Amino acid sequence: MTDPGVRHTFANMELLTRRAVLAAGLAAAASPALSRLARGTAPESPDITLTAGAARAALSGPAYGETACWGYNGQVPGPTLRVRQGDRLRATVRNALAEPTTVHWHGIRLPNAMDGVPHLTQDPIAPGESFVYDFALPDAGTYWYHPHMNSSEQVGRGLAGALIVEEREPPQVDREVLWVLDDWRLDEGEAITNDFGHPRDLSHNGRLGNIATINGGSPETLDVRAGERIRLRLVNVANARAFGLTFAGHAPQIIALDGQPAAPHAPADGKVVLAPSQRADLIIDMGGKPGERFQVRDEYYARQTYKLIEIAYADGQPLRESPLDAPVRLPANPIPEPDLSAAERHEVLLEGGAMGGMRGAMMGGRRMGMRALVDKGRFWAINGVSFGESDTTIDPLLTLKRDRPVILAMRNETAWEHPMHLHGHSFRVIRRKGQETAHREWRDTVLVPPRETVEVAFVADNPGDWMFHCHVLEHQIAGMMGVVRVA
Ligand code: C2O
Ligand code: CU
Repeated sequence: MTDPGVRHTFANMELLTRRAVLAAGLAAAASPALSRLARGTAPESPDITLTAGAARAALSGPAYGETACWGYNGQVPGPTLRVRQGDRLRATVRNALAEPTTVHWHGIRLPNAMDGVPHLTQDPIAPGESFVYDFALPDAGTYWYHPHMNSSEQVGRGLAGALIVEEREPPQVDREVLWVLDDWRLDEGEAITNDFGHPRDLSHNGRLGNIATINGGSPETLDVRAGERIRLRLVNVANARAFGLTFAGHAPQIIALDGQPAAPHAPADGKVVLAPSQRADLIIDMGGKPGERFQVRDEYYARQTYKLIEIAYADGQPLRESPLDAPVRLPANPIPEPDLSAAERHEVLLEGGAMGGMRGAMMGGRRMGMRALVDKGRFWAINGVSFGESDTTIDPLLTLKRDRPVILAMRNETAWEHPMHLHGHSFRVIRRKGQETAHREWRDTVLVPPRETVEVAFVADNPGDWMFHCHVLEHQIAGMMGVVRVA
């Protein structure tokens, strides 16, 4: 095998090896992947119905049988929604699951009532019921949608889909490709394991799986033509796995992060990092020769790297001899710029988890010791409070004055990484470990490494009660959540 790195450390990594095995076994077969890719980017009508319910997907590829999943409209991932910037999205969500659900439109700066957070912004959608989401899309970019109830299980079983808001004038490319990246924990029979909420996952690095998928399958190749310029949209919908993609022989330019335009730049160390829930838009000029092949690898976890897919060049004439000469910079979205000199600063302390030394926290208004918290499936806290998905007493973690510039300084006192996500706003990542960041990128989710402080800044211009939480969904449900009130 070409993947000596994958058989270490995590018992549950064995099947990533298996995935690599699958890759070898199917290498000669024609790629059914492209039809799936094509279907994944098909436009939807503006009046959308999403039915959350049972679905099936050939996660390991057609040769390996299908897995019973949950999906939207029977699809895994759910249908790709395409809307134009400035238009409205109107989606009727029907619940055909046996449990309540909601849909959250991750990264969209929308009115609070449309945010899809149970108890906080709406009542849960009961089985058999439906809810109409209807909101305007102020920003172009790559976003996604997913439930915000029983999140570890509902997202972990496949409920997630991409939401693409097109620029009025998109940069010129030959083709757009979307990869919804996911990670699954399957048993020998390709079934999703039922160990949701396992304390080990809650207290360590979440429900890492054993098979990574692209658009709900295991495509062998991305088939390209020499000279093509591709815009590759990446969305990480995995519960807990971060991806660090390398593109051998290619020089991808990052043009957007979490949907928001960024000054075009090469990824640091050649690795496009996507923590859970994060997105990146890349421009890739296909500079290889007809017939050549290159690996795209996931090298996020140094001891578990593996080949995700191959870029396969068609034989025959290149589309053009030198790269397309057209600008790749995206027009800015209308986000208010925070005035740092006037900003109100708030410290946000992330605590808990295995080896975190947390002694206790407030929960439901009461002080509780660590053992009592653990009994309730709580391992984490923000600023001394453990808040979970089902908590209904809303005592805001922070109350921000509307239209004021704010800096949040997130200090990670734990032994684990946390991709911290704020609803209803995008923020600039301004400092890491006290140093200014190179790109001051706009994001809605920022990865905070262990023992580090990351500072973000934004204007709190969207009124309402907004969730702020870790997007490792097992951390989210185990207490690393809070409410930020903008009033
Ligand atoms: Cu992807 Cu609370 O969100
Ligand atoms: Cu976390």
